[in-house]
Amino acid sequence: MKRIRKAVFPVGGLGTRFLPATKAMPKEMLTVVDKPLIQYAVEEAKAAGIEEFIFVTGRGKTAIEDHFDRSIELELTLSGRGHDKQLKELMNILPIEGTAMYTRQQEPLGLGHAVWCARHLVGDEPFAVLSADEMILGQTPCLKQLMDIYDQQGGNVVAVMDVPADQTNKYGIVETKDSGNLVSINGMVEKPEINKAPSTLAIIGRYILQPQIFDHLEKKERGVGNEIQLTDAMIKMIGEKPFHGLRVEGKRYDCGSKMGFLMAIVDNALNRDDLKDEFLEELQKAIMDKGRKCA
Ligand code: G1P
Repeated sequence: MKRIRKAVFPVGGLGTRFLPATKAMPKEMLTVVDKPLIQYAVEEAKAAGIEEFIFVTGRGKTAIEDHFDRSIELELTLSGRGHDKQLKELMNILPIEGTAMYTRQQEPLGLGHAVWCARHLVGDEPFAVLSADEMILGQTPCLKQLMDIYDQQGGNVVAVMDVPADQTNKYGIVETKDSGNLVSINGMVEKPEINKAPSTLAIIGRYILQPQIFDHLEKKERGVGNEIQLTDAMIKMIGEKPFHGLRVEGKRYDCGSKMGFLMAIVDNALNRDDLKDEFLEELQKAIMDKGRKCA
């Protein structure tokens, strides 16, 4: 069984839900406390053992490349001022030379199209896909949880979570006969209304896929929203090799929505040793003030 060495990060999206913040800045550079969303995703991939990082970017996304590159001037300034801790943190962000790759999705034709744009960089081996919009915080990094299942089962594995019934139309929803944490997938539907949804088990932006996905994406068939959907290509692979969904452990934040993004900031700050005590105090004060004003 081939090891998973490469991860694809589709980062070409426009981020219209966060305008005006994302007018001149990639949405993946939105900051949760002091790190951009894309860095959380890359760190998760690294922690799962990924060695090559493939970014599918688009217009206006050069800040992402700069973020994962050296900034000699900044480094010299920090070291001249004796800010060794900050300097070390900056150096830790850097991928090993030649392991970060960038290609452009020239048109926003959907997630499936973005993944297909990475086909030559991925080649003929299974690979991971991580959406930077989705932040999943748990004891074991989400992608590592999928990798462990892949090591046992092979084939394709996606992270899934139960979502409220009125939200099935926001996700790829899987069909399964199994209960429990690991389910064998028999079908999938992209963004179904609840009356057409086979379950309430949603795919949450972490995938391990076989390279045959590219043959299906190559056909460029349009699905929901007239976009080339990754889900539609995955459906074609069901039955060829094992296809599993793992109910992952951890708390998930949909950072593509304002509420999810705000909660990611709050929870991350409350988990940080350098911030939690003071932040909790300030937060409690703010909540009490608000309560008083509303009373
Ligand atoms: C994409 C996928 C969808 C998945 C979701 C998870 O949708 O198409 O299947 O459930 O990501 O975040 P998007 O959020 O890009 O519309």
